[in-house]
Amino acid sequence: RIIHLTDYRPTDFVLERVDLTFELDPTETKCTSRMLFHRREGAAVDAPLVLDGDELKMTGLLFDGMPMEPGRFTEDNDTLTIRELPETAAFEITVDTVINPEANTQLMGLYRTNGIYCTQCEAEGFRRITYFYDRPDVLCVYTVNIIADKESCPLLLSNGNFLGGAGYGEGKHFAAWFDPHPKPSYLFALVAGDLGVVEDTFTTMSGREVALKIYVEHGKEPRAAYAMDALKRSMKWDEEVFSREYDLDIFMVVAVSDFNMGAMENKGLNVFNDKYVLADPETATDADYANIEAIIAHEYFHNWTGNRITCRDWFQLCLKEGLTVYRDHEFSADQRSRAVKRVAEVRHLKSEQFPEDAGPLAHPVRPTKYREINNFYTTTVYEKGAEVTRMIATILGRDLFKKGMDLYFERHDGDAATIEDFVKCFEDASGRDLGQFSLWYHQAGTPLVTVSSAFDQAKGTFTLALEQMVPPTPGQSAKEPMHIPLRFGLLLPDGSEATPASIDGVEVTGDVLHLTKRKQVATVTGLDARPVVTLNRDFSAPINLHFERTPADLAHIARHDRDLFARWQALNDLALPNLVEASRNARAGTAIAVNSLLSDTLIEIAADETLEPAFRAQILALPSEADIARELGSNNDPDAIRAGREAVLAFLASEGKALFATLFERHDGKGSFTPDAASAGRRALRNAALPFLAIADGQPARAAQAFADSDNMTDLSAALGVLAHRFPEAEETQAALETFRARFAENALVLDKWFAIQATIPGEGALGRVQQLMQSPHFNAANPNRVRALVGTFAFSNPTGFNRLDGEGYRFLASQILQIDPKNPQLAARILTSMRSWRSLEGVRAEHALNALRRIAAGEKLSADVADIVERMLNG
Ligand code: ARG
Ligand code: ZN
Repeated sequence: RIIHLTDYRPTDFVLERVDLTFELDPTETKCTSRMLFHRREGAAVDAPLVLDGDELKMTGLLFDGMPMEPGRFTEDNDTLTIRELPETAAFEITVDTVINPEANTQLMGLYRTNGIYCTQCEAEGFRRITYFYDRPDVLCVYTVNIIADKESCPLLLSNGNFLGGAGYGEGKHFAAWFDPHPKPSYLFALVAGDLGVVEDTFTTMSGREVALKIYVEHGKEPRAAYAMDALKRSMKWDEEVFSREYDLDIFMVVAVSDFNMGAMENKGLNVFNDKYVLADPETATDADYANIEAIIAHEYFHNWTGNRITCRDWFQLCLKEGLTVYRDHEFSADQRSRAVKRVAEVRHLKSEQFPEDAGPLAHPVRPTKYREINNFYTTTVYEKGAEVTRMIATILGRDLFKKGMDLYFERHDGDAATIEDFVKCFEDASGRDLGQFSLWYHQAGTPLVTVSSAFDQAKGTFTLALEQMVPPTPGQSAKEPMHIPLRFGLLLPDGSEATPASIDGVEVTGDVLHLTKRKQVATVTGLDARPVVTLNRDFSAPINLHFERTPADLAHIARHDRDLFARWQALNDLALPNLVEASRNARAGTAIAVNSLLSDTLIEIAADETLEPAFRAQILALPSEADIARELGSNNDPDAIRAGREAVLAFLASEGKALFATLFERHDGKGSFTPDAASAGRRALRNAALPFLAIADGQPARAAQAFADSDNMTDLSAALGVLAHRFPEAEETQAALETFRARFAENALVLDKWFAIQATIPGEGALGRVQQLMQSPHFNAANPNRVRALVGTFAFSNPTGFNRLDGEGYRFLASQILQIDPKNPQLAARILTSMRSWRSLEGVRAEHALNALRRIAAGEKLSADVADIVERMLNG
């Protein structure tokens, strides 16, 4: 069944409040839901009440406290329909259900993980608890009573403020919670069990004290300190930058080890994948710390962008997700280095979102139809959604953007809103028409902007011809031109910036050029010398840019641009064609050359002590194999891509050997570990130099020594990665892997790294290794993190290993998907998206991939999640 945006209509009844009572039991939890309704004004007088359910066992149904006559309701698989309801009077419906949390392997609704009861309701998990209006536009206040065994569940949590608790019969107790903020069911949460806690307080800008609590497994409390610190910084930042204050007496975070995604913003009671809470120097990498900071912030920021203002329907998902990702990006940029953060964001966007937008799963930031909403928690909705929000800020400028945000909070607090509502706030605040701009929400595909330039020395005139094209995507063959904001600058030969007399033909505001037509020519006058144009600074628009520039011009930008991001981008643009050509040569068996301007500039910038180490580390991370594949576009041979890239790396390793050795030694961060961005940057630079040294050395001694010397997980896992990826068969590598395993055998999150490092060892042997690791006693097919670490990492991040010429990688994935799907459809569907670019493979591999997809499609009893992905993948 396909759901269409145009089908939206409000419910026939208004839900005023709900009282929920849970009597928790591992296999037979009783839930009683009392809901107060009245018929909506204007609704048909004979309209029935239709509530959503999913695999429910209903044991009782009351109307105003009396058993409902059998003829007045019907129950089928996924709805409860009640007829003959009052025309105007309010009435109460009570539903009793019995749930088996232990058997809930989907991890949607109420489930158990390591003895803890917990819930995940977004998007449609609440209907697995009880019959309900399980849709985001139905907001009401919740009272929740939880009854449970005192000993196994000393802790009983739900949303809002704690009302009270007491003993409840033999060996049991109860707790009551009331959430005064009306909310949709997807924000409901319940947690019960025996957990340790880290406590703190935060005083809000108006002087209210909020209790902060982070719950983790007993013994892991010290590892929650960084998350607590990040939470307090997030609360402060949202007050300072967005004027948003927290609104309950208590804010809780619970970390659980079985979770389908990163985390969930339930009102006042966030539930997290413990991977994004737990950290200490010994077990977490700098990347883990950065993720914890970002995700703690993200979920906290949802309190306003998501909870206070929610979505009218799930088509509006980007209203809360795109905006909240934008907010967490800005937060991290303020906490760390803005330029380095931007480089990381753009790398991520290009490696995840661009392929999605260029393949069979492409969809608009605001889709118009879906079959399974879980499949729309995508990088397009999240990351491209964030970029669209960023472009609004770029087009309007800081002050008007803030004015628009303030208006949004003021106008829509308490609403279930739409993208149109959101955009209207910025139009009203700024007076600028954002009609054409809104196409970013509606047209899928990454726009391609093609640019050429000419300089007339005699007239001092420079022309920039711009042309845009949005490629066709599934269901959208023809596209309209978009409003593309391009930050730009004109660099003079000495590296300074030109101030032109005039720019005509294209609207310019500040340093932003507004491309709005299919073709436009900007004419710049009053220049003494030919400028080098730097375009799309700060990645102001999420586009592909084709701009024929000489290596010398790119090197000029890489050396002189005042925008650090643009310097990284220029070097990337210099490297990518070289890597593409190297891959072509590797495939053809012809000689591979490296442009000396590329190696010289790269080494020069990496050596520049005036630049921050984290930035130099990003400079050393050349475009990935996936980046090269994307640039090549079609008929891809991952083995040739790797061979070409490896040849370039080898050349750079030998050219820069002295520098790499210095960087590696000088940034030895041994001693006192701190997770701050500057220290992390020094480790990043050291660990970016190590693979080059390993290549130049041609043997594992240095990496093995680094492994032995490491006193923190960042350096330790980096050294292990170099050993495993560069010298998989070496004794040193086998020894290091075993040392690592034995040392961290009790730490699931660290073992995930052990699995992931091995899953990414390139080449033909990868599949056998992965299959062998699945037999390891440490492998646990029921834990999503573990499955993602091994199977997911192999499929997503090991291009040569997964895309084996004989197709075994795809056949393996197909059988995994068919095994995971009956237990956890969301996990299966997510891992399956690793094949989203199968059409851009060369013929033999593409044929194998197609057959594997067909085998999945032919599977019996496929979930809607997997059926939807596989069908779009085959037909898109
Ligand atoms: N709202 C959560 C977040 O982004 C993610 C929920 C994902 N839900 C899902 N069914 N995939 O913070
Ligand atoms: Zn979110």
